[in-house]
Amino acid sequence: MKTILTTSPVEAAGFIKRGGIAAFPTETVYGLGANIFDAKAIANIFEAKQRPDDNPLIAHVGRIEDIDLLVKEITETAQKFIAAFFPAPLTIVLPKASRVPLIATANLETIGVRMPKNGFALEFLRACETPVAAPSANLSGKPSPTTWQAVYEDLSGRIDCILQGETTQIGLESTVVDCTSAIPLVLRPGAVTLEQLQKIVSETRAYQTKNNAQPRSPGLRHRHYSPRAKVVLVNPKSKIQNPNQSAFIGLDLPDEEFDFVKICPSVKDYAHSIFDFFRQCDRQGIEKIFCERVEESGIGLALMDRLKRAAES
Ligand code: TXA
Ligand code: MG
Repeated sequence: MKTILTTSPVEAAGFIKRGGIAAFPTETVYGLGANIFDAKAIANIFEAKQRPDDNPLIAHVGRIEDIDLLVKEITETAQKFIAAFFPAPLTIVLPKASRVPLIATANLETIGVRMPKNGFALEFLRACETPVAAPSANLSGKPSPTTWQAVYEDLSGRIDCILQGETTQIGLESTVVDCTSAIPLVLRPGAVTLEQLQKIVSETRAYQTKNNAQPRSPGLRHRHYSPRAKVVLVNPKSKIQNPNQSAFIGLDLPDEEFDFVKICPSVKDYAHSIFDFFRQCDRQGIEKIFCERVEESGIGLALMDRLKRAAES
């Protein structure tokens, strides 16, 4: 399959309308989209990404009203979050409408819905004239793509089209919050922080996976965000052993010498750079990536979540 590159949201949306799959930018990471009501196109997303079929997709809308097409009910807490944040880097899990094919939600009776903030994403979604199911546009297990070039690197020849936008503004995937029960649960931390959600609904909690418990968000079971290189987390200003063939990313320049270094002026900037840094390290044949730990609050919670996952695999 030839992958068409375009800067036209209307051209990219044409592929979705004809049953194809197309990657598009959002403010978080690039997504790989298909018409959510087209089970065959959705199957092609799973195939192209080599995504395990038990990992549900997020539904993206260009207008708030379109959420009604996807869900049985907008719960009270969901209504509050939608009013306070949408469009935003925030995904809300709700009971799914029966017209949404089960392949999109990996057989769950719930669905994650999100209206991205990025203007180019909204132009694309509105031109699709349907809600768009979209996971991150990377091969399963790889770091999420923050540039169209990263999408190209993973999926060229496997998808119909890439809508070429800018580097994504945030660089980490959306916050996922389950609003199906009375107490909202943050299943995946992101740029809309736990603290911000608690200002709207004070009972909101971070979901903790207990030993052997079934994770609420199936995607959290899977290997994620990992570069080929080994990822090692280090405390700020700690001595680093054996920094050969290795890279460093963090807030403070360490004493040791590395083959590749990125010092970030803020945690926000660190979060913005991490996935692209992982990919650059792999291109340079780096074997080990030392990542400085940050405080687990605000966007730091989301960054540490991704770093820990990358270090696990
Ligand atoms: O920022 C983002 O969310 C990006 C852009 C493209 O919007 N998308 C993204 O999709 O990161 P993906 O598929 O890579 O991650 C979706 C996450 C997974 O952890 C999945 O398990 C969870 O959301 N999820 C989706 N639907 C769910 C549901 N019904 N219940 C619980 N978790 C769900
Ligand atoms: Mg993903």
